[in-house]
Amino acid sequence: FRTLDDLDAKGKRVLLRADLNVPVRDGAITDRTRIERLVPTIKELSEKGAKVVVLSHFDRPKGKRVSEMSLRPLAEALSSILGKPVAFADDCIGPEAEAAVAKLQDGDVLLLENTRYHAGEEKNDPALSAAMAKLGDAYVNDAFSAAHRAHSSTEGVARLLPAYAGRLMQAELEALEAALGTPSRPVVAIVGGAKVSTKLDLLGNLSRKVDVLVIGGAMANTFLAAQGHDMGRSLQEAEMHPTALRILDEAKAANCEIVLPRDLVVAAEFKAHPATRTVTVDAVPSDMMALDVGPETVGLIENRLRQASTLVWNGPLGAFETPPFDAATVAVAQSVAGLTQSAGLKSIGGGGDTVAALRHAGVAERMTYVSSAGGAFLEWLEGKTLPGVAALQQG
Ligand code: 3PG
Repeated sequence: FRTLDDLDAKGKRVLLRADLNVPVRDGAITDRTRIERLVPTIKELSEKGAKVVVLSHFDRPKGKRVSEMSLRPLAEALSSILGKPVAFADDCIGPEAEAAVAKLQDGDVLLLENTRYHAGEEKNDPALSAAMAKLGDAYVNDAFSAAHRAHSSTEGVARLLPAYAGRLMQAELEALEAALGTPSRPVVAIVGGAKVSTKLDLLGNLSRKVDVLVIGGAMANTFLAAQGHDMGRSLQEAEMHPTALRILDEAKAANCEIVLPRDLVVAAEFKAHPATRTVTVDAVPSDMMALDVGPETVGLIENRLRQASTLVWNGPLGAFETPPFDAATVAVAQSVAGLTQSAGLKSIGGGGDTVAALRHAGVAERMTYVSSAGGAFLEWLEGKTLPGVAALQQG
């Protein structure tokens, strides 16, 4: 795909698809990472003399103008991070947007209103894509985190204008390529989270591609139960037992070592700081539930990491939001950060909860790359084609 190196931006109206779908609580932005990561692309385009027209979705207004889902507050946030004014238009197409674009001088930045206020966005409606394309001479996509959506602003418009990857899109794709495309081996993957059923494709694809697959979180309970361990009151998916056994068989056939927990931290109740015990997987008391993996398992994971060259991490090892069940996730995260800094481990993490867990462990800055994407990161690890990326490759 083409990057900003290939775009002669001077004097051009550049339609930039960003992902400004940031977390907000009580009207305040709680995490600015996605805005900060856009800065290199916007700055570069602006400094090269482009008229930068930013498109993004926000939340899921389902084709209606829902005022709480307006991008207007993001113009101010973007402006304060960029250190220059950012204009705002009340619509992402039509006369208002066209007038705002016409007013731009070279180097100016304009943010357009939420693309999902139009029902055509999620339908990838050609009429909407064409109305967007009217606003630009070139299209730059920097929204890797929305690239799993085949929408007008991520896919349709990319086919109507000369299309380029922004710096953030480029960084995400390069990191993922280094993780699973042509990685240096051995590759270890850590997959955690609550449910096997939501990560079936992920486990299947990874077991074909990585050398060691560590399974943690509540989904490990399903695997352990499928192997015949009594998991007491632990969260698990009984109907997934045959599937779990099949995944283990397939991994074996693909020469992928599966690492399951050997010990678990259990409690009678799921709350902060209850009485806990550490038990082996064959000694879970019938009235207790597993909420984290234990120290022996952490040691085993660390051992595999010391031999690894590349790590891909998606999903926490325990119920990390409720202490002390963050212990294993934090310990492994710190080992990962240490090995990244001292032993050249290439460590790549991503997916909603994972980023929160890595931040909680204080290591997000010391990993090789932490993706800004949730669903898109997951779909990429599942081996799926992301429509927003495919459109750039053909463009
Ligand atoms: C995300 O936050 O993962 C992206 O912005 C995509 O949002 P969506 O799941 O509403 O399409």
